[in-house]
Amino acid sequence: MNKKRMDVLKILLDNEGQFFSGEKLSEIFAVSRTSIWKHIEELKKEGYAIEAVRKQGYRIIDKPDKLQVSTILPHLSSKWLGQNLHVYEQVESTQIKAHQLATEGAPHGTMVVADQQMGGKGRLGRPWHSPSGTGIWLSFIIRPDTPIRKAAQLTLLTAVAILRSLQKRTDVQIDIKWPNDLLVNKHKIVGILTELSAEADRVNYMILGIGINVNQEKQDFPEELIDVATSLFIESEQKWDRNQLLIDLIAEWESLYEHYVTNGFHSIKILWETYSCSLGKKIVANTMDGQYTGIATGITDEGVLLLKDDAGNIHKIYSADISV
Ligand code: BTN
Repeated sequence: MNKKRMDVLKILLDNEGQFFSGEKLSEIFAVSRTSIWKHIEELKKEGYAIEAVRKQGYRIIDKPDKLQVSTILPHLSSKWLGQNLHVYEQVESTQIKAHQLATEGAPHGTMVVADQQMGGKGRLGRPWHSPSGTGIWLSFIIRPDTPIRKAAQLTLLTAVAILRSLQKRTDVQIDIKWPNDLLVNKHKIVGILTELSAEADRVNYMILGIGINVNQEKQDFPEELIDVATSLFIESEQKWDRNQLLIDLIAEWESLYEHYVTNGFHSIKILWETYSCSLGKKIVANTMDGQYTGIATGITDEGVLLLKDDAGNIHKIYSADISV
């Protein structure tokens, strides 16, 4: 969408439900009223329901339930996250797209969003169910100046940022399960997949992939997920504007990351511990080198989970599947 049309849309969206005069729009953009009318007609073709009333102007009465650059970009308050934004109707996986862009040199903060993924990737090689029109499937590239051993901190930061951004809009009680699941009533609502490319000890780039179940109804989940997954709609009985949730998430993630870069991991760790449902509980951790059972006592400053077994030994859990 061209820049001027996007700016017209921004004004109408900022004044959603109210009339904005065509004359004022033509003054703001220094173009004729016919030119404004043409932009409005194009916006209607993109799915916006816009009412036009003589002497009052234009007002948006409905917008398409579609993730799109024109609805996201003008509303971003971030400095760099998501400013280079790619939105697709359908991709194999946003994770794969983001890796391609990163190897082609895409800048820090580049984001890929899709309405549907045909081969969405979960952790440990599992598939991630990503149907169209319901969730937010996104991946973004960051190029942090950080050693590999600290990369896990960014997964934890991401979990905190998503939780806080969702919690701004909804009362639904969300918990974090180490390292990267967001749960509601023990059902998974968000998954995070962190992948990185590194040289020697330094991170070259990281891809943070996030899947948020937003508007799925129970029957939208395949059989095997019905008892383990949930969505914001199921939990709140209301449909959500995915563009708005994404705009909120981008603002929250960038602000938390900038705080982290300046002040370090400590306060993020405290926030993570506040939201965690694993700490202080008996857990079973299935790791590459066996199963450990014990109490999750905390996380280290590097984001590694500490598990105390019955004999009082402390185990550091770097990567595992956890059941609480
Ligand atoms: C998990 O197993 O919990 C992680 C799921 C991560 C899913 C997201 S959806 C957007 C991005 N693209 C993918 O293919 N996977 C991640």
